[in-house]
Amino acid sequence: MHISCSFLSLSPPLLLTAKMRPLLPTALLALISLTPLVQADYSNYDYSNQFAPAGSSPGNQSIDYIAPWPPKYRSWYGAWRVQLEDISSGVCNLSLAAYQGDTTARAALGPVRMYCWTHSNCILQTIPPHMAQSLTGASILLGLMPTILSLLGLSVAEMALLHMHRPLLSVLLSLSAPAVYPGRFLIWEDPLRANESHTGAWVIRAFPARWAVVISIAQYVLALAAIALNVHNAWTMGVRAVLVWYCDASYWPLLWVILSIVIHTIAVLSLRIAIRPKRPQPNSSVPPNSGGIPESSKARSNNPILAVLRSEFTISANSATQVRDHYSVRLGPFAVVLQYIGALAALIHLIFGTAMFSSLLYIGNGDAIPIVLRFMAAAIVSRVILQFEIGGMIRVGEDRAVWNGIVQPLIGHGGEGRGEEEGERKRLRL
Ligand SMILES: *[C@@H]1O[C@H](CO)[C@@H](O)[C@H](O)[C@H]1NC(C)=O
Ligand SMILES: *[C@@H]1O[C@H](CO)[C@@H](O)[C@H](O)[C@H]1NC(C)=O
Repeated sequence: MHISCSFLSLSPPLLLTAKMRPLLPTALLALISLTPLVQADYSNYDYSNQFAPAGSSPGNQSIDYIAPWPPKYRSWYGAWRVQLEDISSGVCNLSLAAYQGDTTARAALGPVRMYCWTHSNCILQTIPPHMAQSLTGASILLGLMPTILSLLGLSVAEMALLHMHRPLLSVLLSLSAPAVYPGRFLIWEDPLRANESHTGAWVIRAFPARWAVVISIAQYVLALAAIALNVHNAWTMGVRAVLVWYCDASYWPLLWVILSIVIHTIAVLSLRIAIRPKRPQPNSSVPPNSGGIPESSKARSNNPILAVLRSEFTISANSATQVRDHYSVRLGPFAVVLQYIGALAALIHLIFGTAMFSSLLYIGNGDAIPIVLRFMAAAIVSRVILQFEIGGMIRVGEDRAVWNGIVQPLIGHGGEGRGEEEGERKRLRL
């Protein structure tokens, strides 16, 4: 396809004004007075090669085509907003009008493969090279973003463990930290051991009942706020940027956020299949580090729905029992394979995110960093909530001390051999 190159046709005085353009956002007055000048700078785009070649499969877009809601090219990210608006409604005004459904503009343009792409072609051909470089740099940063976020994300085993205690909270957390820590493929991670006492882990002790309620509510509020931040961030990206593989659509970044539910579901299914209820032991004693809350056992005898609700809203530090008290793990091939599939799905989700975020156009370097920081903030919030819950489940045995709420290294003579053994096990699991 032949595309006429407009940069080469810039004459020397015009190059001079092109250099001045980055100064524009600094002074509004200068901006307003220079705008007509800037519009005059760009040379006209040649729309002659926008149709689909004869015999190609989707063909030319119908002249009655209506672009899906929300319309593209209405709002832009801040770094290059002025320039992009100038170009979009200036030299590219014909394809913009055609995209928005103006029939006379469409008639003037003639048949094109896609109205949305015709407009993007005009913009991309008109923007100066330094802007194009900024967009390229941003797309590398955004492409790496899912991987960076996954380092902060929850692991499949942790999500499954939390789900056993607090299903609703775990679903909220999986949405607020969409990039899952993928873990090692083909290594089974025991979710019921995700709360083992490692050296350096924070132990959360039981809180007074009133505080426990406040903390529980705060967890939901924080998780919901993190989700709102993610959804807003992803939707804004979808609307302001143009995805290379689907010009019209705005939902792809949001889809990436929501798809983390699938990984979560696979992880939970794997654990649900693997566990068997233990036979109730008569007179089983209250576990050592529990807060000794008696209501929980009372509720269990009452009403199963009430018991589930109570477990959902009780922070784990105040919960009288743990999953391990009620269930034991009996691994069948199905449960193991499901967790492998979960780890693979997390990886595919990362690849999908990398491909998608690196294909978003019109996000400048200066805009990519706040986008990444917002997703990171949400991921950190959900990570802290998860770690708080896991800290509440840690049971410290006789061989370790806890000092200032932190689990200390193994003590005693016999402990060392076991410590090595544990380290070995941990290495295998990682
Ligand atoms: C699209 O329109 C152009 C111009 O009319 C025409 O040459 C081409 O064959 C059309 N493409 C298809 C796939 O019909
Ligand atoms: C597009 O811009 C040109 C000048 O660059 C102007 O003559 C024309 O009227 C504009 N068309 C529309 C539809 O705004």
